[in-house]
Amino acid sequence: MPLPALQLLEQKLERQKRLFELRKGALERRIERHIQLLEQRKGVLEKKLEQQFENHKKKFEQKFDTQKKKIETRIRHFEQKNGIRLDDEVRFIRSWIGKPLTTGAVTPSGRALARTMAAYIDPNRPGPVIELGPGTGPVTEALLAQGIDASRLMLVEFDPTFCRLLRARYPTATVVQGDAYALKRLLSGVLQRPAAGVVSGLPLFAKPFRMRLRLLFEAFALMAPGAPFVQFTYNAVAPIPKWLDRVTVEASERVWMNIPPARVWVYRRD
Ligand SMILES: C[S@@+](CC[C@H](N)C(=O)[O-])C[C@H]1O[C@@H](n2cnc3c(N)ncnc32)[C@H](O)[C@@H]1O
Repeated sequence: MPLPALQLLEQKLERQKRLFELRKGALERRIERHIQLLEQRKGVLEKKLEQQFENHKKKFEQKFDTQKKKIETRIRHFEQKNGIRLDDEVRFIRSWIGKPLTTGAVTPSGRALARTMAAYIDPNRPGPVIELGPGTGPVTEALLAQGIDASRLMLVEFDPTFCRLLRARYPTATVVQGDAYALKRLLSGVLQRPAAGVVSGLPLFAKPFRMRLRLLFEAFALMAPGAPFVQFTYNAVAPIPKWLDRVTVEASERVWMNIPPARVWVYRRD
């Protein structure tokens, strides 16, 4: 190709290259503007969504709160009508799931059974009243209703959660966390005078016969002569045999108003 024609082609290519660069720059700026616009829209949309989410959350929380209050009021009415505390029921079921043989029941004793047990304790007999396995305290309540001052109560409970609850509910009572089957060792140094009675909610049938017998005689050793050892059971037979030397035994009617129905056994030694 002759030189002038080559130079012309070179100039043409140069122009096309500049044009291309200009168009490329314009395109890049347009894309940049679009990106900025999209970012702005995205920000606005995000804020709108956040606002909507917050509004929904607030509305849901308000609705939930109202429903919760309604349910709580219904629960309290139900509790008052039936003489039970459902929050205690929940605690009890949790403890039973964890240690079924120690807790011994899926639900706390009902009022009728608790009253029957407490009725065997004479509030005029001096000395502390020992309760074994008070759990969430239905029998403790009945003992208080029987006229026994909380400061006279010695509550022996194995479960630390129940112990915390009992300390909060009965601040003047003595709560001893430990194994009631080691009663003598557990209460030596705590008990200042012979007890007026022992009320037990322990699931005795979960233990061998000789352990039940040892518990009864350790309890007798801590009580004044003739004071009662009160024990309930869901079983048909006595939790500790009736033919013990120098020990008198009596049993209540079956308490049908309890789940399951139960009977109260009372042991005394002169
Ligand atoms: C069947 S529940 C009775 C609870 C309550 N008195 C009532 O009537 O609802 C048995 C209670 O005895 C407690 N317990 C079981 N074994 C125990 C032990 N060796 N020493 C102390 N408490 C024990 C359990 O933690 C539980 O609170």
